[in-house]
Amino acid sequence: MRVIVEPTADAATRRAAAFLARQLAKKPDSVLGLATGGTVVGIYQELIRLHREQGLDFSQTTSFNLDEYVGLPTTHEQSYRRFMQQHLFDHVNIPAERTHVPDGLATDFETSCARYEWEIGQAGGIDLQLLGIGRDGHIAFNEPGSSLGSRTRLKTLARETIRDNARFFGSEEAVPRLAVTMGVGTILDSRRCLLVAVGDSKAEAVAATVEGPVTAQVTASALQLHRDVVVILDEASAAQLRRKDYYAEVEEAQTLLESGQLAALGIASS
Ligand code: F6R
Repeated sequence: MRVIVEPTADAATRRAAAFLARQLAKKPDSVLGLATGGTVVGIYQELIRLHREQGLDFSQTTSFNLDEYVGLPTTHEQSYRRFMQQHLFDHVNIPAERTHVPDGLATDFETSCARYEWEIGQAGGIDLQLLGIGRDGHIAFNEPGSSLGSRTRLKTLARETIRDNARFFGSEEAVPRLAVTMGVGTILDSRRCLLVAVGDSKAEAVAATVEGPVTAQVTASALQLHRDVVVILDEASAAQLRRKDYYAEVEEAQTLLESGQLAALGIASS
């Protein structure tokens, strides 16, 4: 796990957007896994800016969103399809037919979830999966206790998540009780994961994810089993990490390696 701590939330957001932009520059037909929520709004704003000002191209990109509430029409203000249209898709040149959000209005969820998994496979699998994290340590809507091998399925939202998301709905009662979500296993199949967290309300979940035991009680901790995970944090969300100094040293060594300053790392020149 590569842990990058930026001084502010803004800097963390820009760094995350730069990661996504680099992925698209390297592989324009990338399959991106996308998230919704407060954390990613600034990341999408920065991607839109890069699209407008620097020609960041989404024309060959395919996307799969992590989750969707059950029972909300796609036009509902709080549906994740609407969120994606509003915050990203309507402002970049991604072809509409290549954007995928789980179907929260399905009549047969078993079939529609299996189809979502199949579609991800047909697209060649997810190259880079963007993730936020809940205060209870969830990724997507994989609430505490979710199987670490789980696939796309229906999930009951935890009370803590309902309380957190009530700010978007006006009241707890208005928050749907169920969601369709990619499973932890689906997420772990992505080639690369990018987890972003900002703010002190995430500090405990971040520490448990990065430095705690791998446990279904903190589903983000399953990312420790993935071979290519980048975690981008601001100082506030990194506040409870015990090995912050070491992560900074790793970043410093990485920068020296990338800029060819091998002597500084004790590597003899050939
Ligand atoms: C949403 C999702 C969730 C959020 C998480 C953090 O697609 O997958 O796991 O990433 O709940 O939400 P915010 O960013 O609103 O704190």
